[in-house]
This record gives sequence, C-alpha cells and structure tokens, in this order.
Amino acid sequence: MHIDELRETYLRFFKEKGHAIIPSASLLPEHDPTVLFTTAGMHPLVPYLLGQKHPMGKRLANCQKCIRTTDIEEVGDPTHLTFFEMLGNWSLGDYWKEETIRWSYEFLTSDEWLGLDPDRLSVTLFAGDDDAPRDEESAEIWREMGIPDERIYFLPKNDNWWGPAGTTGPCGPCTEMFIEVDEVPKCGPDCKPGCNCGRYFEIWNDVFMEYNKEQDGSYSKLKQRNVDTGMGVERTAAMLQGVSTVYHLENFTPIVNRIRELSQRELDKSDKHEIRLVADHVKAATMIMADDRRITPSNTEQGYVVRRLVRRAILSADRLELRPGFMEEIAQMVIDVYKDVYEEVERNHDFIMQNLKREEKKFKRTLRRALRKLERILDDTGDITGEDAFLLFTSYGLPIEITREIAQERGLKIDMDEFREEFEHHREISRAKSQGKFKGGLADHSEEITRLHTATHLLQEALRRVLGENVKQMGSNITKERLRFDFSFNRKLTPEEIEAVENLVNDVIGNDLKVKREFMSYDEAIKKGALAFFKENYGDDVSVYSVGDFSMELCGGPHVDHTGVLGRFKIKKQENIGAGVMRIRAILEQDD
Ligand code: SER
Repeated sequence: MHIDELRETYLRFFKEKGHAIIPSASLLPEHDPTVLFTTAGMHPLVPYLLGQKHPMGKRLANCQKCIRTTDIEEVGDPTHLTFFEMLGNWSLGDYWKEETIRWSYEFLTSDEWLGLDPDRLSVTLFAGDDDAPRDEESAEIWREMGIPDERIYFLPKNDNWWGPAGTTGPCGPCTEMFIEVDEVPKCGPDCKPGCNCGRYFEIWNDVFMEYNKEQDGSYSKLKQRNVDTGMGVERTAAMLQGVSTVYHLENFTPIVNRIRELSQRELDKSDKHEIRLVADHVKAATMIMADDRRITPSNTEQGYVVRRLVRRAILSADRLELRPGFMEEIAQMVIDVYKDVYEEVERNHDFIMQNLKREEKKFKRTLRRALRKLERILDDTGDITGEDAFLLFTSYGLPIEITREIAQERGLKIDMDEFREEFEHHREISRAKSQGKFKGGLADHSEEITRLHTATHLLQEALRRVLGENVKQMGSNITKERLRFDFSFNRKLTPEEIEAVENLVNDVIGNDLKVKREFMSYDEAIKKGALAFFKENYGDDVSVYSVGDFSMELCGGPHVDHTGVLGRFKIKKQENIGAGVMRIRAILEQDD
C-alpha cells in the first residue's frame, strides 16, 4: 500500500465513522510559544481539547505535517525522521475508550481495511501511578477484541502516557499498538513492545486525554474526556510495504538514489548514514520553509532549526562529495513529492529556493572563517572549551553540533555543561535587556498572546486601509513579547504610513469594540467579506472573528472579548523579506 493510498484509506474509514476531515494545520504553532513546531496532530487542537467548540464538530480526523527535533540524533536509523506525517482521529468530549479501541482494531485487522494478521498484534497500556489509575478499562476492551493476556503489556508513564505537547496542557494514558515483524529476530528473552529492537513495530497510539498538566507539574481533570490517536504515516507504510526502513519508501527512494548519483566518488555501505541525513534534513528544511508562515534561516527559534538542518546537510554533502547545486535539486524533488498533498509547498517554491541558495553561500563563508578560528584555538590551547564553542557559535555562526563533530573527529570532548551555561546566561541577559527587567520562573503567557493575536487582525485591516486592498497576510508569528506579520507589499512603508497604521489600530483599541465569534460556511464567510489566509488551511465550516465592524477574519482564535484591553499598539520594525513580502514587528505597550 502506497503512502497516498494509506492516507486516503484512513480518512475514508473515519469519515464512515462520522468524522469531519480537517486539513493539516501549519507546522508552526501559532499560539503556543512553549514549542517551536507542531509535533503531533493533537497540538493544533489544544484549545478544542480544553473545551472550546470546534466548527467542524466533535469527531475529527486528518493527516498532519509534523516536525520533531528531539530525536534528531536518531535520524538515519530505520524509523526516525525530522519531518513526518501523522494520521489521527479525535473525539472532543464525544466517544471514549470502547469506540476508539474497537475502531483501531477494525481498521488494522479487517480485510476491508489494512487486513493485518490479528495474531501479530500486541498492545501496551498504562500501568498506573499516583497521578492516574492502571488502565484496566482499556485492557478489558482489548481482551474482548480477542487479544490474549500474553500480548497485553502494562508499562509506566515513560512509555504509556502522552503529552502535553508543550510544558503544560492536555495529556493522558495511552494504549499503543505494535505489529510483530518476522524479519527482525527477537533481541532476547525480554523482547517486548517498546524495547525498540525493531521486532515490534509501533503502529498506532490511542491517547485518552482526560488530564491537564498544570504549571506546578500536577495533573487535574479536564472539562471533557477527549481521544487523540496518532498513526505515523511513514512507519506504517514501511511496515505494510515490508521494507526495512522509512528510506526505502516511495517518497524517499528517488531522493536517496539521486543523492548517490550526485556524488563524485565511489560510495559504499558506510556512507548510508550521511545519505539518509542529507535526505531527511533537506526534506525537513524544505517543508518548514514551505509553510505559509515563511521561516527564513536565522539564529533564533524555528529559523535556527532550519539553519541547523541546512548546514548539517551541507557538511554531510561535503563528505559525500555531492556536486554543487545538490541542495536545490533535492529540494525540488521534495517539492514534487508533496505539492499535491500540501498546496503551500508549490506556492512557496521560489521562497524556498532563494533561501536555500542564500544560506548555502553564507554557510560556506562562515565555515571558512569559523574553521580558521577553531584551528587557531586548537593551536593555542590544544583543546576546545565550552566557552570556545560558545564564541564560535555566537561570533562565528558555527552551530554547536558541528563544533562537537569536529571535536569528536580529533578525539576531543567539549564541556557541554559549560556551553549550556554560557548559552543560558547570554539568553537571560538579552531577555532582561529587551524587557528592562529580570523575570524569574515560567509564567503563563496565554493572555499576552491572545492580545497580540487580536492586534494582528487589527494590523492587517489597518494596513489594507492605508496601503490598499492588495495587502494580504503571508505569515504570522506571535510570542509573548511581540507579533510578527508578513504581508504582500513590495516596498518599505513611509514614516507617515506607519503612523497612519498605528493611529488606526489605536483608535479601534480606544473605541473598545466588541470581538465576536460566529460559525458559518467558508463561502458565506467570504461573501460577507471576511479575510482568509489560504483556503486549504480551513475546513468546510469555519470560525469567523469580527472586531466591531472594523475587521472580519477567518480564524480559530482565541481572541480578547473587547479591544479596550489591548494597550498601546506600536510598530517596532519593518523589513523587506523578499519575493514581494514585507515583515512588520509590533508590540502592545501596557501602562503599569
Ligand atoms: N499525540 C499522540 C502521538 O503523537 C497520538 O496522536 O503519538
């Protein structure tokens, strides 16, 4: 079964079970500053898991683009990828364990669907602890499905508890499904699901999200009982196709083969890891930059991850002696693989190519300078300290991973604790500088973010009124300190225009307009004049926010109830980010 067919089959199954199929959300979480990327299908649904009404109802399913960087060291092994897709179905306070498990079993084993041999299916369940009880309820349902006790395993929180996606939020015990594969021998007498030897292939995870993890680390019950399930597309497809690694799938083999062809030397088995790394990293960087929120390689946040991926790929490419221009060629293949599934990939084609080219050039220059500096350090001291590594990172732009690898090649070890200390110290100082004071501990920033989110709507409308209706949102990103808004426009704004935009927004704030939310069909919303980012980011029924009669936009929220609480709107910076797109950073000043 090909990947396209797997996606289609899964979504058809859950449509038949009364689920609305929603589009994949952006890879960049818009309202969660605690994480950089969407790491699972449930992540963009957090407000709905917490009780907000979803315009498409209580049963949802989709295929979500995901990025995980926590496993980046594992990339190159048979199953770990930085970019991957995840199929999922959700109950928002609707069905519970019985339906979830029955449907999982039916989809996996029925000949009408995946038709896997039920005798190869094992499941794991949460063993229980002080926070939540042992999941006997789910075990009983599995037994009713015919799974014998010797293939039901109870494991602790580490294995069978999922979430939250960030530091706080919805989470709960889960039951995971594994298929035993004959190709991999058992690793020993204790071989079992979750031991990671490859014998038991993890295929699906059903999470019963009835808890919320709080700031203080405790778990409270959510208002509603939710279900969140996730099936990794690439892993499952590999299992169904009987191939031993995800790099043998049809969406990777042409890329891997092309990398081999692009090499100017004889490659052998030992080059496998570098080849996979190039394939994975160029793909992930391409998919992040393909997102409509337009991330460019930089030294902070998501941009830093893109930079790391691209630069790491270049280093591997050097070792493989790939021909110049390899990066754009591989990126083009990635675009071809995904352009029919995720339209934004084609739409942002030029942006991706421009940035890859620019970053490659920059890195080559950086690398030459940084390596010269590193050699000087080694000549002087014979060692690389954490402080040196930090200097190479901040002043010479050399990613820490690369310094580490070079050190390793020479049999040296970098004191990572020292590096981290320097790094944290530096971060605290620059934060304190920008806030004018030190703030300790983790605060809940959802209020700041909600306010900036409403301000973003006001900004877009104000820009359209001042600069003309051609202004259209191209991207948006909010942290607790500022909003960032990208829009189609091909020159910098004059000081007068900036002032006019600020005044317009501040007038709306001063008038304390009401913010209202309604649900309607996409077509109706557009007819009423609502602004939409891009159609495919929404489902059929959409949620529309209006601010008095000043602005109306398709949006999932959340927003403030009335504009009076926003504070004073100020544009801090504008920047031409190329390809006809301008970027504005703005803040809300509170008088306290
Ligand atoms: N959130 C869970 C996971 O990522 C299930 O979707 O595995």
